[in-house]
Amino acid sequence: MKSSGFDTLYTEARDFFEENLISFCSSPGEAIPPRLMNSMAYSLKAGGKRLRPVLCIKGGESFGLSREKTLPMALALEMIHTASLIHDDLPSMDDDMLRRGKPTNHVLYGEALAILAGDALMGWAFEYPLSTLPGLGIDTGRVCRAMQILANALGPSGICGGQVLDTDRESIEETPDFPWKVTRQKTAVLIRASLLTGAVLAGADEKSLDALGEYGWRLGNAFQIVDDILDVTSTAEELGKTPGKDKSQKKRTFAAIFGLEKARQLAAEESSAAVRALEGTSGDTSFLTALAGYLCERTR
Ligand code: IPE
Ligand code: IPE
Ligand code: MG
Ligand code: MG
Ligand code: MG
Repeated sequence: MKSSGFDTLYTEARDFFEENLISFCSSPGEAIPPRLMNSMAYSLKAGGKRLRPVLCIKGGESFGLSREKTLPMALALEMIHTASLIHDDLPSMDDDMLRRGKPTNHVLYGEALAILAGDALMGWAFEYPLSTLPGLGIDTGRVCRAMQILANALGPSGICGGQVLDTDRESIEETPDFPWKVTRQKTAVLIRASLLTGAVLAGADEKSLDALGEYGWRLGNAFQIVDDILDVTSTAEELGKTPGKDKSQKKRTFAAIFGLEKARQLAAEESSAAVRALEGTSGDTSFLTALAGYLCERTR
């Protein structure tokens, strides 16, 4: 696929998601305190690449499920991702003031509301798809399986575990595998879950799910390695977040451990391994193949 074709497909899926996200945020339940809703909506609507919802939509479409039917899961994935960013930016974690080109949630709303907005988004990410997907005609067995993948990605062996390995000094292990372990849990797990949940809801076969799962791990690794590189090489304008934070906080990133050149090579290797994994899937793989290249070359 030509990259211009890929750009159009990505933009189309992202715009569909954004439009629906805006209408979702504009009709909150009456019981939600307005300041809490404002805080959640502020971070949800702040922008970003929308990679996880796009992966979910494309995972569904590859196996014949319309984007309208994966939408609740795509929203859930962006809620969990956004919650993880709100918490990641807190003073007790990465202590960041800029996210998606805007002041971070706690800078605007205070720490208590930022913590609660993250918690509330995580709860909503389960309530919303569970209460809407069966009504869209999706088999409840598929819904349960997709929700289990989502829960696993968020929980102690997923993002929460990965963030502990990333931030807790006493959890550091002096092994060559350690940076891979951190990356797998804090980042790759949700990227993998995004693609898998879409494919599971669409009823993809087991062999394809295995292949997409492996693609997801590898793509997620490449994505975090590039994130570490961009922290060194990019600007606040381009990134929408403060560069140089990893070094100032002595993070054991791929760039810090291996140097930029080797880190770039590792990202390219993970991206190639992702594409190779697609040989095992029966769905349409052209978008995912192009995505792996695009994410390695991204500048934000
Ligand atoms: C940032 O994710 C956090 C990481 C997992 C590296 P993104 O780079 O996808 O952030 P947005 O959604 O585009 O803001
Ligand atoms: C964050 O990793 C991963 C999660 C939010 C789970 P980083 O700390 O590297 O993400 P950025 O660079 O702040 O976006
Ligand atoms: Mg972090
Ligand atoms: Mg951070
Ligand atoms: Mg980073």
